Amino acid sequence: MQIVILKDSASVAEYGANIFIKQLQKKADSVLGLATGSTPVSLYQGLIAANKAKQISFNQVTTFNLDEYLGLEGTHPQSYRYFMNEQLFDHVDIDKAQTFVPPGDAENPIAACQGYEDQIKAAGGIDIQLLGIGRNGHIGFNEPSSGLMSRTRVKTLTKATIDDNARFFEAGEYQPHLSITMGIGTILDAKKVVLLATGEAKADAIKATVEGALTAACPASALQLHQDAVLVIDEAAASKLTDSDFYKHIEAENQKLMARLGL
Ligand code: F6R
Repeated sequence: MQIVILKDSASVAEYGANIFIKQLQKKADSVLGLATGSTPVSLYQGLIAANKAKQISFNQVTTFNLDEYLGLEGTHPQSYRYFMNEQLFDHVDIDKAQTFVPPGDAENPIAACQGYEDQIKAAGGIDIQLLGIGRNGHIGFNEPSSGLMSRTRVKTLTKATIDDNARFFEAGEYQPHLSITMGIGTILDAKKVVLLATGEAKADAIKATVEGALTAACPASALQLHQDAVLVIDEAAASKLTDSDFYKHIEAENQKLMARLGL
């Protein structure tokens, strides 16, 4: 894993956006894996700005989102489809027919999960997958105990995740407790994975991801198996790492090597 520790959440968003900008400049028809939640919002703003400045285009891009609440239609303001339209798709030159979010309103959710896997495969696989991380180490809605080779499926949310996400729902509003999520195996199939984490609330999860054992108890620890996983985190999220000075040293050496090779 490449571990990039930056001073604050704004630097994390900028660094993350630059990875995606470079990806789109290198491969205009990239297949992007996208995430929702608070963490990627500033990164999306960076992509919107780059699109408006004509540094990148989305007109050949295909996207697949990690997850969706089961039981919400895409027009529901709390659905992840709605979130993606609001936070990114409505502001860039993307063909919405090329944007995929697991169908939370599918009549047969189990069949829909296989259908989602088939769509990712038909698109040629995901070039780069964006991830946030839950306080409990979840990626997508792969909660602790998720199989490390799991595929897209219906998952029950933990009470911790429901409580964390309650902030997006009005008091008394129906909040789903089931989701459709890409599996950990689906995520690991992406050619590159970029996980962003900011704030002290994520420090335990980052510690377990980077310095803990490979275990279904911390789904993000599965990224230890990936050959091109980048963790972009701020000082607060890095605050419980034992070896953060070493990770900073590695990153400084990487930067020097990249500069020497003109990359
Ligand atoms: C979102 C997702 C989740 C979030 C995670 C962190 O599509 O799959 O894993 O990335 O819950 O959420 P925030 O960024 O709101 O802290």
